[in-house]
Amino acid sequence: MTSTADPDGSGPGAPAAGTPVDGRPRAAGFSRRALLGGAGAGLVAGAAGGAAGDRAARTAPAAAGAPVGLGAGRIPFHGPRQAGILEPQQARVHLAAFDLVPGAGREELRTLLRRWSRTSARLTRGEPADEYESRTAADAGPCSLTVTFGFGATLFAKAGLADRRPRALDPLPDFPEDALDRARSDGDLWVQIGADDALVAFNALRVLQRQAAGTAAARWQMAGFSRTPGATARPMTGRNLMGQVDGTNNPRPQDPDFAAKVFCGAEEPGWLAGGSYVVLRRIRMLLDNWENLPEDRQERVIGRRKSDGAPLSGGGGSTAVDLAAQNADGTLAVPADAHVRVAAPASNGGAAMLRRGFSYHDGMLPDGSPDAGLLFLAFQADPGRGFVPVQRRLARGDGLSRFLRHEASGLYAVPPGAPEDGYVGQALLEG
Ligand code: HEM
Repeated sequence: MTSTADPDGSGPGAPAAGTPVDGRPRAAGFSRRALLGGAGAGLVAGAAGGAAGDRAARTAPAAAGAPVGLGAGRIPFHGPRQAGILEPQQARVHLAAFDLVPGAGREELRTLLRRWSRTSARLTRGEPADEYESRTAADAGPCSLTVTFGFGATLFAKAGLADRRPRALDPLPDFPEDALDRARSDGDLWVQIGADDALVAFNALRVLQRQAAGTAAARWQMAGFSRTPGATARPMTGRNLMGQVDGTNNPRPQDPDFAAKVFCGAEEPGWLAGGSYVVLRRIRMLLDNWENLPEDRQERVIGRRKSDGAPLSGGGGSTAVDLAAQNADGTLAVPADAHVRVAAPASNGGAAMLRRGFSYHDGMLPDGSPDAGLLFLAFQADPGRGFVPVQRRLARGDGLSRFLRHEASGLYAVPPGAPEDGYVGQALLEG
């Protein structure tokens, strides 16, 4: 199967799709409109093309009427890593957890994961999913859709895989001040769906949920958002709902120890090698209190300037924080309880994680305050050496914590990606 299908006969002279926007790797996609309009889906079954593992942008001739710009963004589903970890946050996200229904076991789980993987691959190419697709995303391109799957601790015994459960999936400890709603926490299966279009993201969630019927039932669902690519004059780190530049000091793929911090190595069970663990925290922000704080005090709570995210120790947005720096009067430039000091790897024995959170807003609470905050997501090689020690320290000594409520929590093993002829979780279920 080639990637040169040209359903509308427009050929290579058609307008170029896949123009990179904001530096995000994008590939030209085939439009749903062309496909739903009559071209056989089989024509494009190999459109993502290439060997498994190559996530680089690919270009293919655009069909006439194919979406350009944001709509054309295409992130391959297949590869050594699941998509949705290293890619920039999309404008929209859905997070959902599913529990196996009574009677569903290993065989049903395998069928579901095979189906979910096949469907996700199709949707990320901008193709319709299957008979369950109700045209919600018709006319749109893939819009940088990614679908990421994870396994919660409770999955393993239910699927007869208790002996393959990694130790690092032990439940997270209770942290002081946690106010967790267990009904919106945990879950056997975790799904993260990101896309730059709300209809495309919703469609993917809906299709996957319908396909799960009879095997897994939805446990909870959360919707979030991030800045829409192209909204700013140049690509830049986004802001959270407190107005802070958030995500500056994340591990970077070019760091020599990046993979060791984020992805599982040989110490994990073989089925998880090259995968990761993700911690989810739904953290409500007490915005009424926060917004009453003058900006200079807000900056001292974080340890960075609000305008450009520069550290209070000096320099610009990309300057490294100097935790030893002092003001003229001898006080610490980055206060002792500043979030960036308390969370820094230097304060936590090197503990690090790749944060990839989204904002959420679920309306107003009965007292009129916004039910809004951060869907904190952090990928790491081992939560015991990443999230847990950092959150322990934050819960005790972070100036930011008095403006936050941790209301839901989850920890999931994120298996490596699937090759084109495989599915996510195959090594666990068939290994
Ligand atoms: C709503 C809750 C939170 C908000 C609003 C928030 C906000 C921020 C901001 C504005 C920064 C500075 C910019 C940056 O480097 O990204 C930051 C840094 C950081 N945050 Fe948070 N954060 C929150 C929760 C958490 C949690 C739960 C953790 C982990 C347990 C965490 C870990 C970190 C780390 C590791 C850094 C980088 C510190 C450094 O080395 O400079 N944050 N956060």
